[in-house]
Amino acid sequence: MQNFTFWNPTKLIFGKGQLEQLQNEIPQYGNKVLLVYGGGSIKRNGLYENVIGQLKQMDIEIFELAGVEPNPRISTVRKGVEICKENGVDFLLAVGGGSVIDCTKAIAAGAKYDGDAWDLVVKKSFATEALPFGTVLTLAATGSEMNSGSVITNWETNEKYGWGSPTVFPKFSILDPVHTISVPRDQTVYGIVDMMSHVLEHYFHLAKQTDFQDRMCESLLVTIMETAPKLLSDLENYEHRATILYAGTMALNGILNMGYRGDWATHNIEHAVSAVYDIPHGGGLAILFPNWMKHNLHVKPERFKQLAVRVFGVDPTGKTDEETALEGIEKLREFWIGIGAPKRLADYDIEESGLVQMADKAMVNGEFGNFAKLNHQDVMNIYKLSL
Ligand code: NZQ
Ligand code: ZN
Repeated sequence: MQNFTFWNPTKLIFGKGQLEQLQNEIPQYGNKVLLVYGGGSIKRNGLYENVIGQLKQMDIEIFELAGVEPNPRISTVRKGVEICKENGVDFLLAVGGGSVIDCTKAIAAGAKYDGDAWDLVVKKSFATEALPFGTVLTLAATGSEMNSGSVITNWETNEKYGWGSPTVFPKFSILDPVHTISVPRDQTVYGIVDMMSHVLEHYFHLAKQTDFQDRMCESLLVTIMETAPKLLSDLENYEHRATILYAGTMALNGILNMGYRGDWATHNIEHAVSAVYDIPHGGGLAILFPNWMKHNLHVKPERFKQLAVRVFGVDPTGKTDEETALEGIEKLREFWIGIGAPKRLADYDIEESGLVQMADKAMVNGEFGNFAKLNHQDVMNIYKLSL
């Protein structure tokens, strides 16, 4: 295990009816509030009205930024920054999924930055200050509600990058499973794939003696895999929604990965796909992750074997580590396909002719991956396996 400092200042407020906590939280931070939300799901399911109802009971001025896209765009971030700067907004409230929250993080930092917010995303500048913000999460997937990362797309240049800063941890996040009940089946599946992928990104590392961390990762994966089919056959089940919601937050809030550094190459490879083809993040991961695993099996076969045995119940008797590992990878792929995730890039009409452009995008900062360093050829191989 490596040395570490764990710090996560986000207050997590979980459970039914917790929306009214807005009234205790927001007045601590400001009274000119920018409400940020997506393409309309919160208007259709009634959450918008409930949030506005809460805000109106406080002595605050409300501004709105609607229409944040899935794979949120820098153009929308810029609009939000302008609203904040023009009106002296002092608090932001994100109501939505990871895209709305990520966009809000970029606005919060951009509003305190003199240049263009894209500088922060491409790391030309580092966010040392941000407006405070809170979130009301509506989709279990990214963990953005309790971390300091954000992923923003520039549609003009087909670039999509993750960036982060300790200044953009949400002050609070309200997680009421009821708010996720209207998430349609496909987005529920993408969310499940995404949170499992976060655990898997952690799991593939080169540090020694992470016994407890391994068991935490494995138990989260097993819990998600036990719950997912039950939820998908009963999308309105509060308890299953609650389990998946909590699991998604725990998968990427720093709790699992103390004392080691996970790989994260598959996320980079997927972001390059979304940057060019605007596909859902979880859909891309379901296609790519098993192939990243196959490609890197040789680095530490015993790690893949451990996953296969402990999480996927593969019997290793009489098999080499590689054989056991491959069976585990197949079981992961089967599980994702079984819950309705896509299996090939062709499912999104992505053909061989598009691969070089995506690989170039993925390589923009040079070789990457902490478990296994990938070069252009490696990335091309993983894309080819995924066609
Ligand atoms: O825009 P609206 O109308 O709200 O609809 C959204 C959107 O179409 C809909 N939705 C959300 N909550 C709903 C709902 N529909 C019905 N009922 C509800 N309660 O779902 C669609 C997808 O939403 P989105 O926010 O895009 O999904 P997700 O939470 O998966 O976020 C994906 C984005 O997060 C980034 C991804 O790359 C992608 O850009 N990521 C962010 C991370 C982070 N900040 O830590 C880590 C992740 O690995 C990921 O990269
Ligand atoms: Zn992800």
